[in-house]
Amino acid sequence: MFDMHTHILPEVDDGAKTLDVALDMLKQQHKQGVTKIVLTPHVQNKVQKKSSSEYLERFNQFNEIAKKAYPSIKLFLGAEVMYDQFKHPDYDKFIFRGFNKKYLLIEFSVEMETPIVEVLYNLVSKGYTPIVAHIERYAYLSLDDVRQIRKDGSLIQVNSGGILGTDGKVFKRLAHLYLKENLVDFIASDCHNAQFRGPNLVKALKKVPSTFKMKELEESL
Ligand SMILES: [Fe+2]
Repeated sequence: MFDMHTHILPEVDDGAKTLDVALDMLKQQHKQGVTKIVLTPHVQNKVQKKSSSEYLERFNQFNEIAKKAYPSIKLFLGAEVMYDQFKHPDYDKFIFRGFNKKYLLIEFSVEMETPIVEVLYNLVSKGYTPIVAHIERYAYLSLDDVRQIRKDGSLIQVNSGGILGTDGKVFKRLAHLYLKENLVDFIASDCHNAQFRGPNLVKALKKVPSTFKMKELEESL
């Protein structure tokens, strides 16, 4: 099983506060049968505690420890980039490492309406495959917007908490609507700790139609 949106990399953002918490999160993933995890620390987000320039080195250190503790789990480094109309980072630095396409997990403001369809179209035209993080949170998108986003070449991710309703009723309704309309490519835990925002992918997968199939991403050789 594949969890492609997590905040397990310790001490870099509002995710795992310590190495012990991160290892506890991996333990829970292991128990649930998760074998592939992308670590997606925040970028361009005020919850960041460390510069993203440190992420790769920190990932390599953590990966060594994790491999010994849970050899059946393969970790990848990605990021969750907050879109900012005034900042245009080198997105190549934040694509998922180890896959054969330029996957870019991108989030948007929940409150401030953003031209998401247009932003994603532009990223696709530059050669990226954007993955929209927790699309159920952008209540200002219409169903047609979401259809267009996918048609244009982006992928859609919904949070476990959205499916389970722990993130609120509105997000739950939208998460299930997008599932029903076959617009969802990934469900991911977006886990931030080992407790109330813990790894809960399997719990969520039990609540989705049996026809749902998680998209697989081809690893690069
Ligand atoms: Fe996240």
